[in-house]
Amino acid sequence: MRASRILAIETSCDETAAAVVDNGRIILSNVIASQAELHAQYGGIFPEVASRKHVEMIYPVVDQAMREAFIGFDDLNCIAVTRGPGLVGSLLVGVNTAKGLALARNKPLLGINHIEGHISSLWLTDHADEIEFPVLTLVVSGGHTDLYLVLDHGRYQYLGGTLDDAAGEAFDKVGRLLGLPYPGGPAIDAAAEDGNPNAFHFPRAVMQQEHGYNFSFSGLKTAVLRQTKQYRPEHLPVRDLAASFQAAVVDMLVEKTVRAANDHGVTAIHLAGGVSANRALRMAMFEAAGMPVRVPPQNLCTDNAAMIAAAAHHHFINGRQDFLDMDVIPSLQLV
Ligand code: KG4
Ligand code: ZN
Repeated sequence: MRASRILAIETSCDETAAAVVDNGRIILSNVIASQAELHAQYGGIFPEVASRKHVEMIYPVVDQAMREAFIGFDDLNCIAVTRGPGLVGSLLVGVNTAKGLALARNKPLLGINHIEGHISSLWLTDHADEIEFPVLTLVVSGGHTDLYLVLDHGRYQYLGGTLDDAAGEAFDKVGRLLGLPYPGGPAIDAAAEDGNPNAFHFPRAVMQQEHGYNFSFSGLKTAVLRQTKQYRPEHLPVRDLAASFQAAVVDMLVEKTVRAANDHGVTAIHLAGGVSANRALRMAMFEAAGMPVRVPPQNLCTDNAAMIAAAAHHHFINGRQDFLDMDVIPSLQLV
């Protein structure tokens, strides 16, 4: 098998990230500059601000990733970058930087799908040697809530996904309704710890068999909004609302994921993406699955470049290469 030492760059959303990874497994460096604080004042991501910040941060972040890995550009086999899906202005910064480096240093270039990156974050864990295909991966983040049957490296079958908001988007919007800081996911996770998940019964949408493996979160968000209107802002039962909302999201995600896993005879369930950091989701999935459940460590759940390198490794060893005319694809599909 060809060895690989890959520098990967990820700028699809609001994290400027670069990492150096050996053979898709060993992380030599993994640098992430988050813009969350910058966007907190807008209560969500401001695309123009995100791309300007990427421009400012990309070279320091790449430089730090190379220094922390103790290597020079001559030691690299390939430069990989997220080409989609994501925000066009953000993606362009990463892709143009990767192209510049590939040209200047005469290295092969590889464009990677961000979702394949999240799926590949599991190859970077201590469990990587135990993984036997097929597995079922729930990619659950601020932009995506999708179920994929992973048949092999690079072979995916889409089983279902959200019909409206992504689960992370619902966490962020409900966080705002409850007056919690952005991003809402970690804030709700923390607030829910002291809340009663049965205080309010929020709807669990499209749970029936005929809806297949799809999800819907927009009705839930509206139900929380309606409930908040029953209180004066200073009397809002934030912890109970957070816990009850989170319980509904977790129920929907667990029910569909476990059903899909059983229907397809997989060896394990994998969780990936920012929302897979959620403690209630992890716990409920472990309890309900009846098979191994694997999750990345917290720093590999949210956007990072190590996962992009992990995905790139398998393309690189199969001889794939992209060229300098490669463009960003903001709505890139995995299958
Ligand atoms: O994967 P990610 O960094 O970016 C996308 O590709 O979207 O995911 C970010 C999302 C945000 O919506 C954030 O609120 C959510 O992941 N998130 C969480 C938690 N940590 C991050 N949601 C629920 N519980 C958490 N602990
Ligand atoms: Zn992501």
